Amino acid sequence: MVKRSDFKLVKRPTSAIEDDSCLVKIQYMGIEPAMRGWMENRADYIAPLELGDVMRGFGAGEVIESKSTNFPVGTRVTGSFGWQEYFLHRSDDAPLQIIPDGVSLDEAIGVFGLTGMTAWFGVNEIGKPKSGDVFVVSSAAGATGSIAGQLAKAIGCWVVGISSTDEKCQWLTDSIGFNAAINYTHEDWPQRLKKACSGGIDVYFDNAGGDVLDVALDQISDGARIVLCGGISRYNSTAAQTGPGNYFNLIFRRAKMEGFIVLDYASKFNSAITSMKPLIASGQLKHKATITDGFEALPDALISIFEGTNIGKQIVCISPPSA
Ligand SMILES: NC(=O)c1ccc[n+]([C@@H]2O[C@H](COP(=O)([O-])OP(=O)(O)OC[C@H]3O[C@@H](n4cnc5c(N)ncnc54)[C@H](OP(=O)(O)O)[C@@H]3O)[C@@H](O)[C@H]2O)c1
Repeated sequence: MVKRSDFKLVKRPTSAIEDDSCLVKIQYMGIEPAMRGWMENRADYIAPLELGDVMRGFGAGEVIESKSTNFPVGTRVTGSFGWQEYFLHRSDDAPLQIIPDGVSLDEAIGVFGLTGMTAWFGVNEIGKPKSGDVFVVSSAAGATGSIAGQLAKAIGCWVVGISSTDEKCQWLTDSIGFNAAINYTHEDWPQRLKKACSGGIDVYFDNAGGDVLDVALDQISDGARIVLCGGISRYNSTAAQTGPGNYFNLIFRRAKMEGFIVLDYASKFNSAITSMKPLIASGQLKHKATITDGFEALPDALISIFEGTNIGKQIVCISPPSA
């Protein structure tokens, strides 16, 4: 399990800004399960962090000093800032994204950020649900799962969420319109899932991996699509991983299981955002954030998503935005 002592608070002055650079005051930092993987000494889809590096993280903030014509003082931006209070952006760094007027900081790193994009492309490019399909999502009350389920609902699916508490299950059905929600800490949850998905699961959007994935595999229908978005149950594990025992059902059910990395869809983010805006405006797509305060809350916020205390996007407010 990731722990506070894995992190060290280091105080350093910010460098002076040069031509074409700007200084961002970081206000919100998004917390993602993938951060745990970046702390592991293994190469996967992105280079691991070295000991002593600034912890990687995507956040939102405001330009407070600038010698850049692209990012004048007052511009609100998102970027890969790392866990810092200030970020010096140079012209040869990865570009910052300007937050449009009318979009709040939590929306910029949540529903319109990598989280929303992950849900959108996982649903529409990999799962491809059709109206009437049974769509099941794990970590359903989390940032990605809650959006993925609502996107499937807007398509006309019967949507069932899997989560760890009755409170989260109630939020899924009562507040964001899921048809059913199953608490996987109850011993008979596989039977409850089967009852909620009569006819079998057509699309399973997996954020959890492990036993939850295995139960879902046992309940897929013919031609099912399994979206491998994440597998948080394994992120803290140091033991060798065994595969899901029920994988053979993919053969019997002529089903497909496919992984994806959201960053591969970057060129299509703007069109996804354009498609999501009317869903938000009409109330079909709701989003929620769990926000904790203060720079030093960052490690605890990361721990909390492995403890499952977040509903929606876990965010740390490093510095409150001005009104
Ligand atoms: N493929 C991609 O490009 C991509 C991009 C972004 C994120 N992801 C993946 O998407 C998933 C969701 O990310 P997120 O940022 O939206 O996080 P999140 O769902 O908001 O938070 C993580 C949730 O995972 C559940 N969880 C924690 N430990 C668990 C365990 N041991 N076993 C089962 N469930 C556990 C908890 O929900 P419960 O309490 O309800 O179990 C927790 O709230 C992650 O797997 C992440 O790695 C993939």
